[in-house]
Amino acid sequence: MTTMATTTTLAKADESVEYAARLEHVSKSFAGPGGQQLVLDDVSIDVAPGEFVTLLGASGCGKSTLLNLVAGLDGPTAGSITTDGRPALMFQEHALFPWLTAGKNIELALKLRGVPKPERRGKAEELLELVRLKGAYGKRVHELSGGMRQRVALARALGQESNLLLMDEPFAALDAITRDVLHDEITRIWTETGISVLFVTHNVREAVRLAQRVILLSSRPGRIAREWTVDIPQPRRIEDAPVAELAREITEELRGEIRRHGQH
Ligand SMILES: Nc1ncnc2c1ncn2[C@@H]1O[C@H](COP(=O)(O)OP(=O)(O)O)[C@@H](O)[C@H]1O
Ligand SMILES: [Mg+2]
Repeated sequence: MTTMATTTTLAKADESVEYAARLEHVSKSFAGPGGQQLVLDDVSIDVAPGEFVTLLGASGCGKSTLLNLVAGLDGPTAGSITTDGRPALMFQEHALFPWLTAGKNIELALKLRGVPKPERRGKAEELLELVRLKGAYGKRVHELSGGMRQRVALARALGQESNLLLMDEPFAALDAITRDVLHDEITRIWTETGISVLFVTHNVREAVRLAQRVILLSSRPGRIAREWTVDIPQPRRIEDAPVAELAREITEELRGEIRRHGQH
């Protein structure tokens, strides 16, 4: 058996760092009923500073596992992961505290980052404005629509002032129109802030709509099957012909992957 270095390093935020995240030969196994189950196999990815990368794959192929490794929530079985500072993470479920207002949810993240109390309210208001939720500071979670909740979750993630935003199917539970609006918003915020984004989705059109680069993961185990550079100017629309055309090509490839591994 070969032994490989197993490290998860949080590099200091530094101008000279040439990547926001670097995954080198990352593998991950879980103990299952039939022994070790290999979920990710030899995955190497570099995300450049300011780059928007989508990681696309069928359900169960290991996307969330990979994102959790990059977030440092779990360690790889083999290989190494380095990030430029601590990444911010946003999930499909907003994970807001229902007993706190939108504003207080954001302030909690600011508090954890060490922002002094007198500055928190102003910063929370600024973040709400950035996600176009001006005036929602005092609203409770149950008063907000699904789309508004994800905006608050996004504001909270941005409040961490990370160089890298990890997004795990953040719009998957939203209706198509709301999702469309949030695609515009995340593109705008990415452009305005220069943050690097690693965005996980099983939705091919969404992947093409958003990314500069789409990486397709195979299933069982998750390996990099192929990647595409998306040379379509932003802002794009999900129904634009070039988006649809590339999505069709990628879908063919994804179908092939699913057929090869007997998954659906
Ligand atoms: N903590 C865990 N323990 C055991 N198996 C896990 C664990 N987390 C994920 N898995 C398994 O890893 C595989 C990939 O899961 P996941 O990363 O959630 O896929 P995706 O996000 O692409 O849908 C699944 O087979 C899942 O059951
Ligand atoms: Mg997942």
